[in-house]
Amino acid sequence: MSNGSSTQKQGNSPAIEVVGLAKRYGDFEAVRGLDFEVKPGEVVGFLGPNGAGKTTTMRMLTGFIPATDGEARIAGHDIFSDATNARRAIGYLPETPPLYPEMTPTSYVDFVARLKGVPRRSRKEAVERALGRCGLLDVRGREIRQLSKGYRQRVGLAQAIVHEPKVLVLDEPTVGLDPIQIREIRLLIQDLAATGGQTVLLSTHILAEVDAICQRVILLDRGRKVLDQSLTELTGGGVSLEEVFTRVMTRDEATEPGAEGEAA
Ligand SMILES: Nc1ncnc2c1ncn2[C@@H]1O[C@H](COP(=O)(O)OP(=O)(O)OP(=O)(O)O)[C@@H](O)[C@H]1O
Ligand SMILES: [Mg+2]
Repeated sequence: MSNGSSTQKQGNSPAIEVVGLAKRYGDFEAVRGLDFEVKPGEVVGFLGPNGAGKTTTMRMLTGFIPATDGEARIAGHDIFSDATNARRAIGYLPETPPLYPEMTPTSYVDFVARLKGVPRRSRKEAVERALGRCGLLDVRGREIRQLSKGYRQRVGLAQAIVHEPKVLVLDEPTVGLDPIQIREIRLLIQDLAATGGQTVLLSTHILAEVDAICQRVILLDRGRKVLDQSLTELTGGGVSLEEVFTRVMTRDEATEPGAEGEAA
């Protein structure tokens, strides 16, 4: 809002736009002056070691916690001044989805659809579609507490996509799943981006996952962005992602404040 370009070209807006975003907990800076953009339809891997600030950033983008500083827009909607529209444009799979154990996949996804403002007329169809896409039709009537972890994760994904949001924010979507389910969820994410034109920001610690489905990588470390590059550029020289990250993370340690400019 306070930056120079106040004219919003809705159609051309980045799917996600983050400027100087920060989160402080007391004296501790969990996210520090983060800037990045994600284009419509892009699948971006949001990476970084434990505690880097991935979940904190995702919570700010999805309106779960307030930012301390900075700006963010989702499909052109400011997360502060246009929060309702920003939230409707986004689907979020949290690190631990708040599922209600006594509800069924159908009733839970329907409940979220209502919260997200899916009109009554199309709600039933939207719920069916989300359950179908996540492979939940067979267990739709069972209580969530009876479902395996993998199926619960699918319910989490189904509620994230039920209102067909432009932007999907997925916090470690395949954690705890078996290899077959991991494959299926990856295919689903790719399919959502390819056929639904959805933009995906996804955090993961599995580099093979990034290789398989992401076009670009944003790497965080201690609340800061330390790398933002396309996968083609990153691994173009036949170097593995793992090697690239090890290099970036060790280089970063060598250039901590104080060490900078002291090379002989
Ligand atoms: N409510 C809170 N109060 C204080 N510190 C917090 C709070 N939530 C998160 N933090 C701290 O902020 C930092 C970033 O945490 P965050 O959960 O965003 O990391 P992450 O990148 O998602 O890590 P992981 O890979 O382990 O999921 C951590 O040091 C964490 O301890
Ligand atoms: Mg996290």
